[in-house]
Amino acid sequence: MQGQSTALKPVDYDQAQHAGYAKARALQPRAIAWYMDAFAAYLPPERPLVGIDLGSGTGRFTPALADAFGGPVYGVEPAARMRETAEVKSAHPAVRYLAGHAAGIPLPDGAADFVLMFLSFHHYPDREAAVREIHRVLKPGGRAILRSTFRERIPNHWWRSYFPRSQQIEEAMFPSVAEARLYFEDRGFRTIGWETPTIPLENDLANAVEKLKLRAVSVFEHMSEDELTEGFAALDAALSAGTLEPRPTTGDYLVFARD
Ligand SMILES: C[S@@+](CC[C@H](N)C(=O)[O-])C[C@H]1O[C@@H](n2cnc3c(N)ncnc32)[C@H](O)[C@@H]1O
Repeated sequence: MQGQSTALKPVDYDQAQHAGYAKARALQPRAIAWYMDAFAAYLPPERPLVGIDLGSGTGRFTPALADAFGGPVYGVEPAARMRETAEVKSAHPAVRYLAGHAAGIPLPDGAADFVLMFLSFHHYPDREAAVREIHRVLKPGGRAILRSTFRERIPNHWWRSYFPRSQQIEEAMFPSVAEARLYFEDRGFRTIGWETPTIPLENDLANAVEKLKLRAVSVFEHMSEDELTEGFAALDAALSAGTLEPRPTTGDYLVFARD
């Protein structure tokens, strides 16, 4: 149903994940650079561009957006503890982190050339209000980039088979591509891109397991302690036995242009 998120309980990043998120979800600099080039293909050519990283978390992408596009870039994030980490670990002269949320962005009308939602859209409790707000803060012709998982395109992550119920939980957590497009196309945007890049798994499997154990993955918030303990024990056993299969996954993003 439009406007409402799933029946799953919301993930509160002030309670969960904030401590391990930056380490657990760290990306190689080349991966960040790859995303900047990929996003540049959909953004206007002039520089500087003003950006909003909506649901910026610990600022994984915010400084890179400022470097790539000039800025200023505003990291808008509701969880104070995620913002605190961003301010320490992801400071940048052209970046400001702001308390706010998708349906209440603390910036004036027409403030930005682009809005990036990187794995944050599924957390917005009122997606219709969020998209209206994104429309308000973008300049005419501005771009909204939605990096998300989609219900019918749940990636077969390298860890998926160790946490079998995660598939069903993610299907409840994420919108379909058609639903996501409708949120935007009903509110003054047109879809101008849909990309499905392949995301390589880092080479060091033991490190990948250690990072996963920090549990900075939303789906784990909806699983029982027993399921998680069992899954991680099976992963450890597979790692020791050399049977853990590295497998790249895909990560979709849609791009919308404001009217
Ligand atoms: C999976 S994290 C992604 C963080 C960052 N974009 C990244 O890729 O590292 C999801 C973030 O969305 C934030 N979030 C939750 N509800 C939100 C809302 N209503 N508006 C904006 N951000 C929200 C969370 O607090 C969290 O920091």
